[in-house]
Amino acid sequence: MIVNKITYKKLMALAGLFWFAYLIFHLSGLFYFHLGEEAFNLYYSWLNNSPIDTILRILLLLSLGFHVYIAVTRQLSNNSSIGTKYKKPYPKAVPRSVAWSGALMLLFFIIFHYFQMHEVESVTLYKFLVDTLTKPEMIIIYILGLTTITAHLHHGLTNAFQSLGLCHKQYNLIVSLILFVVMGGYISIPLSIWYA
Ligand code: HEM
Repeated sequence: MIVNKITYKKLMALAGLFWFAYLIFHLSGLFYFHLGEEAFNLYYSWLNNSPIDTILRILLLLSLGFHVYIAVTRQLSNNSSIGTKYKKPYPKAVPRSVAWSGALMLLFFIIFHYFQMHEVESVTLYKFLVDTLTKPEMIIIYILGLTTITAHLHHGLTNAFQSLGLCHKQYNLIVSLILFVVMGGYISIPLSIWYA
């Protein structure tokens, strides 16, 4: 039973790491934005017509579903252990209500963002992005989305390293540095629009 729990936690960490790898892939594509409208639209029209896109969408959906399912079942099992002798301790620094509110906001952001980016019809993707990221309500949604993903990844990556047998403290600084670079990359897209 305990072995199973540990295996599920490792698989959950791997599913999270797959999403993190996707975030880097996604960011590398978004960098075409800085090369101009033609380069950006060309890259996305290539990606959307490539089998990589379909494979990625299926893998992202499966890994997200698995990640969320294990997170929920682990939390429920921990709740039901209240009052018994053994109760799994949670990281002291993050209250459960805060961690779950952040995770829910992130899930809503991913679903919202996915459907929003696939409703582009009458204009090119570049123009759609410029138009979207200049609307005040969208700026708030994207700032909240990027903030929750940074917090979730900071907690998730340090724990994923730990689940895979790598020392927590040693990797804390590395995780912060990686997140600073990756999230800085994402923020550079709206910044380049606002200060163009
Ligand atoms: C400033 C931040 C971001 C910008 C400007 C941005 C932009 C885009 C664009 C232009 C697309 C459309 C791609 C297409 O037509 O196929 C897209 C798709 C997507 N984005 Fe983002 N994105 C951002 C942040 C994020 C974040 C933080 C996540 C994950 C948590 C994310 C997850 C996705 C997913 C899952 C898709 C769909 C992928 C697919 O259809 O293959 N994005 N994004």
